[in-house]
Amino acid sequence: MLEFQNITKIYESKKKQIVGVDNVSLTINKGDIFGIVGYSGAGKSSLLRCVNLLERPTSGKVLVDGVDLTQLSSSELRIARLKIGMIFQHFYLISQKTVGENIAFALRAAKTPKNRIEQRVNELLEMVGLTDKRDVYPGQLSGGQKQRVGIARALANNPSILLCDEATSALDPKTTLSILRLLKEINEKLGITIVLITHEMDVVKEICNRMAIMQDGRVVETGEVYDIFAEPKEPLTQEFIKSVVSFDIPNEILKDVKGQIIKILFKGEVAGEGVISDTMQRFNVKGNFLHGTIEYIQERPLGIFIMELQGEIAAVNEAKHYMEQRGAIVEVV
Ligand SMILES: Nc1ncnc2c1ncn2[C@@H]1O[C@H](COP(=O)(O)OP(=O)(O)OP(=O)(O)O)[C@@H](O)[C@H]1O
Ligand SMILES: [Mg+2]
Repeated sequence: MLEFQNITKIYESKKKQIVGVDNVSLTINKGDIFGIVGYSGAGKSSLLRCVNLLERPTSGKVLVDGVDLTQLSSSELRIARLKIGMIFQHFYLISQKTVGENIAFALRAAKTPKNRIEQRVNELLEMVGLTDKRDVYPGQLSGGQKQRVGIARALANNPSILLCDEATSALDPKTTLSILRLLKEINEKLGITIVLITHEMDVVKEICNRMAIMQDGRVVETGEVYDIFAEPKEPLTQEFIKSVVSFDIPNEILKDVKGQIIKILFKGEVAGEGVISDTMQRFNVKGNFLHGTIEYIQERPLGIFIMELQGEIAAVNEAKHYMEQRGAIVEVV
C-alpha cells in the first residue's frame, strides 16, 4: 500500500515560492492501477516524484507498506528505491549501451551477482517481448520498443510499485494501447501496483481501476474509475470525462425538440434499452433518441442515453420515476 499523508511540495526560486503539491492525502492500494489526471502544471509529476523522493516533500509523509520513506537514512532509502520502478515519457535510455546493457545497468546498481545478470536480462526481455533486440542500440528502436526497454529496466529489481509519468504521451494510439496492455499484464501477473500520470482520459478508461484528478496542486476528486465516469462530481472532472464521452447535440436538431430532454444512465447492465422500451409502452409518452452510447470501463458496461420525452407533464414525470425505479439515473438536461 502507498499512502500520501498531507503532502506539500513548495519550490523556492528567486524569492518566489511555487506550490507544486498542496496538502495531498491519498491512499493507493496494493494491486491498483491508479491514474492521476490533470492539466499541465497541476502537480502530477511533483506528487509522483515524492513517491521515491526524487523530490522531497516540504511537509507530509510518504508511506510504502507502512514505512515512512521521509524518515529513512540515505542507505535505507537507496534500498527502498529499488522496490519502486519508474518509466518516463522520454524513456531516458543510455544511447551508447545496447538494450541488454541498459537493463543490466539497473541490475548492477542493485548489486545483482554477476552470474545472475544475463539470465535476468533475458527474462525481462521476454516479458516485454523484445528477446530479439538484446544487442541493438536504443537508436535502432521505435518509440514503443524504447518504452518496452524502459519497462524492462524498471522491473529489473522486482519492484512492488511502478510509477509511470506520461509513459505513453510520445506514442501513437496503437502503440499506446500495446504498452497499456503490457502494463496491465505486468500488474496482473506480478501483482505490481501501478501509479500512472496522464492527461488522457482514454488511458485511464483503458486500464485504471481508481483515479484522482488534480488541479493547482490539490486532489479535487478521487474514487473508482467506473463511478467517476458514471457520475463525475467536480466541474474539472466533468470536463475530462467529456473528452471521452461527449453528448453534443447539433443545434439543427435541438431547435426541433418540443419535449423534455433527459439523460438516462444505466450502470453495470446492458438492460437499459429494455427499460426504455417498457417505459414507452407503459406511459403515454413518446421518446426520441438524440444520442447514446455504451462505454465499457473495466469491462463493465455503462449505458448513457440522451432522449427527448414528449407528452403530458404528469406522464413524463411518471415515466422518469419508473425508469429510476428500474435502476436508471435520470437527469433533465
Ligand atoms: N523543479 C521545479 N522548480 C520550480 N517549480 C517547479 C519545479 N517543478 C515543478 N514546478 C512547478 O510546480 C507546479 C506543478 O508542476 P508539475 O510538473 O508537478 O505539474 P504536472 O501536472 O506534472 O504538469 P505536466 O502535465 O505539464 O507535466 C508547476 O507550477 C511547476 O511550474
Ligand atoms: Mg508532469
